Amino acid sequence: MYFALPQEYRETALPDLKKRVWAAKERLGHKALILTHHYQRLEVVEFGDAIGDSYALAKIAASRQDVEFIFFCGVHFMAEAADILSQDYQKVYLPNPLAGCPMADMAEMADVFEAWEVLEKLGGDQRFMPISYMNSAAGLKAFCGKHGGLICTSSNADAAYRYGFERKEKLFFFPDRHLGFNTGMKFGLRPDDMVIWDFSQENGGLTDEQIERAKIILWKGHCHVHTNFKPEHVIEMRQKYPGIKIVVHPECPYEVVKLADATGSTGFIVKYVEAQPAGSIIAIGTEINLINRLAHYHSDKKIIELSGQTCPVCANMYRTTINDLAFCLENFSEIKPISVPEETKKFARIALERMLEVH
Ligand code: 13P
Ligand code: SF4
Repeated sequence: MYFALPQEYRETALPDLKKRVWAAKERLGHKALILTHHYQRLEVVEFGDAIGDSYALAKIAASRQDVEFIFFCGVHFMAEAADILSQDYQKVYLPNPLAGCPMADMAEMADVFEAWEVLEKLGGDQRFMPISYMNSAAGLKAFCGKHGGLICTSSNADAAYRYGFERKEKLFFFPDRHLGFNTGMKFGLRPDDMVIWDFSQENGGLTDEQIERAKIILWKGHCHVHTNFKPEHVIEMRQKYPGIKIVVHPECPYEVVKLADATGSTGFIVKYVEAQPAGSIIAIGTEINLINRLAHYHSDKKIIELSGQTCPVCANMYRTTINDLAFCLENFSEIKPISVPEETKKFARIALERMLEVH
């Protein structure tokens, strides 16, 4: 993928860009919907018709059948999900097409299919339910749809596990080992009930006996932003600020999650902060743009980033600038929309619709 923002859009000053985005929004009126994820820059979020976590935005994309154009300020897998869930007459644009997700890239289709071949020998979809985190390629969502599985986000992973265990003996969860593990622990499983499929090794680095003993096979993927947080950060914060509240995203390692006061999706974190009384001190373990925005809007509370030093920025979320948004809104008729092939869409939609049903 190659994308170079035209020079004119790089050189335009912020006040002019803002005027142009407002003007384009007004011109498009009810035909356009701008969706912005919680990790987007403040000046991008300002233009969102809706802001939310990946689950909430997918739901909005599925339900707003009245609009013609959806501009998704987030990362590629989110825009793909919007394209899968929207209608054929609707078009979805990703203002910066280079915005991907390194965690999603850790589950390559060929590698997942290879793992499935091994699981098939042990019973396949008679025994295993594939569950993919939303952060995955459309082809893997289709794979889940074809094999009786579903998609989840960090806001409904528990419900997805319930759905899975009500129907199958074992789960095959990818790509985030941490969300998968944290959800398993919340579900009452023991660490030994979960094994890690290391895609860089033959047979995932597992014996058939290990797979047989496990209840969940977890893909060895992770988010480089959330794995920055360490248990010592929680301990240090509690020492420094007695009475502090600590809330983290479930992509953080279990050792961090277990020490935090609360864990949940980006949407959950926003609500958690809103619910704390004025004067509270809250440390947050998630992406820095969301933390900064929460600090900006809740000046009656002290809101700090949990590690205190690592600046957990998601470079891909940060890629989308207001310059990109202005360019996309003004030129979308010449830009290729996100377009998931029909056959993939058909099965991916099954898995995504299950996700929307099991919240
Ligand atoms: P949410 O589902 O909480 O919005 O998270 C998406 C994500 O990519 C977190 O890193
Ligand atoms: Fe992907 Fe992590 Fe960025 Fe979320 S924060 S989009 S999981 S790289």
